[in-house]
Amino acid sequence: MGDSLFSPLAVRGVTFRNRIAMAPMCQYSAEDGLANDWHLVHLGSRAVGGAGLVILEATAVEARGRISPGDTGIWKDEQIGPLARIASFVRAQGAAAGIQLAHAGRKASTRRPWEGSGAIPENEGGWPTVAPSPAPFRPEDPAPAELSVAEIHSIVEAFAAGARRALAAGFDVAEIHGAHGYLIHQFLSPLSNYRQDQYGGTFDIRMLVALEATEAVRGAWPESRPLFLRISATDWMEGGWTPEESVELARRVKPLGVDLVDCSSGGSSAHAKVPLSPGYQVPFAERIRKEAGILTGAVGLIIEPRQANEIIREGKADMVLLAREFLRNPYFALHAARELKAAVKPPVQYVRSFPAYTKIAVPRTRARKGRCNTAPARPPDTYCFFAVNSVVVGSPPPRPGRVTFSFISLPATVPSYLVVILPFCVSRTTSKVTVLPDTLPFEIGCAAGAPPPPPPRPPMPPLTEPVTVAPSALSSMVTGRGVPSRPG
Ligand SMILES: Cc1cc2nc3c(=O)[nH]c(=O)nc-3n(C[C@H](O)[C@H](O)[C@H](O)COP(=O)(O)O)c2cc1C
Repeated sequence: MGDSLFSPLAVRGVTFRNRIAMAPMCQYSAEDGLANDWHLVHLGSRAVGGAGLVILEATAVEARGRISPGDTGIWKDEQIGPLARIASFVRAQGAAAGIQLAHAGRKASTRRPWEGSGAIPENEGGWPTVAPSPAPFRPEDPAPAELSVAEIHSIVEAFAAGARRALAAGFDVAEIHGAHGYLIHQFLSPLSNYRQDQYGGTFDIRMLVALEATEAVRGAWPESRPLFLRISATDWMEGGWTPEESVELARRVKPLGVDLVDCSSGGSSAHAKVPLSPGYQVPFAERIRKEAGILTGAVGLIIEPRQANEIIREGKADMVLLAREFLRNPYFALHAARELKAAVKPPVQYVRSFPAYTKIAVPRTRARKGRCNTAPARPPDTYCFFAVNSVVVGSPPPRPGRVTFSFISLPATVPSYLVVILPFCVSRTTSKVTVLPDTLPFEIGCAAGAPPPPPPRPPMPPLTEPVTVAPSALSSMVTGRGVPSRPG
């Protein structure tokens, strides 16, 4: 116990402002691997929405490693510029910018989801795929070519080159994609790796590509920046990769410089039966965290602020990653902060709409009916808003001067009131939001707009019929003492 969803997390030289990450999600919207405005808005809006970390989708370290023709790529220098624009914007919003380095192996060259499913034939723009062993993912897919040892080395080097470009683009976090049945997972899992050489066979040998890619990326990635590894903690298949092996893999990558294991599952076999339920992969994050002594991320059907908060508070993971919920609600983190009454800073442009909270404990002796003891003296042209706990007592409409409110009665055993304060001033003349100096050191995460304008007058009902006015009534109409009546 101790940390919660909005506790910052420091990993190496990066401090995440909270524990909420947007999970990598392919957008299938790049051309020739180049990110574009779609990616900027997609990722940027989740950073605006308060996420602590925003991770760019599976980004291919080789062109043939793209899942679809629309994947982002990082196999050539031209791809750095558009990525740099995104990383810079995300960071400017106070979120850390992450990128997932990926190679799809035998699951490459597939259609964008909205264009059907399955492999793209070569005569329609598909390309030959590669894998540890020449077995397709689905029987109807073309068989991948078995990678030679030299090709494996060159892919490992492509991961390192991708990390160098990610660094040039300004990302804070690199995540190696070792999950969901893609190339690194294909080497790990006995369901897809039948090799008889130095890269296939026992568990130790199947792990080699994951370890070599980790070493290569860490070598290209500064000591000051976090490195994550996403794994599928289980194949959910008899004879497949297991949670025990995941714990052991986590133990081995930790000394190689992986800081956090992002615990997903599945993807090796189309026949796997995945027991979907809220937080269904959290137990993997919890187990790996405890048994391998490494930070973990929990992902999968995490959709509620309280659910996410409990995962962190109960020590089941160090970070939660949300995917689909972030597609539905880009401002999940800001809404979660409001629900959990955590201090949060919305973008300055949005402060009028996002009240945030500062919590302080007011000793019983200072809490009394009447004026708020903490209300500061203010210049006359400012307003100050206050709210108290979840029960707002007193009214906090915008008005100058101190705000009067009373406290609810607490049992005598409770030593202090938890007061949630929204302290800020809005200049009447300039609408400028000012932090109230004498409320410091409380963190100010909030502001609101100037007083609302008066409600508009209801419109007069239209006259549908002619009105006859007696000459004697005209004088009272002109002086405002009478109105014409409608004909009865
Ligand atoms: C549209 C979409 C694209 C995805 N692309 C990726 C990806 O690029 N890399 C990855 O590791 N997982 C990817 N995933 C999986 C998510 O990161 C996440 O693990 C999964 O959706 C479960 O989390 P959720 O229940 O919060 O959606 C994708 C999921 C979705 C919905």
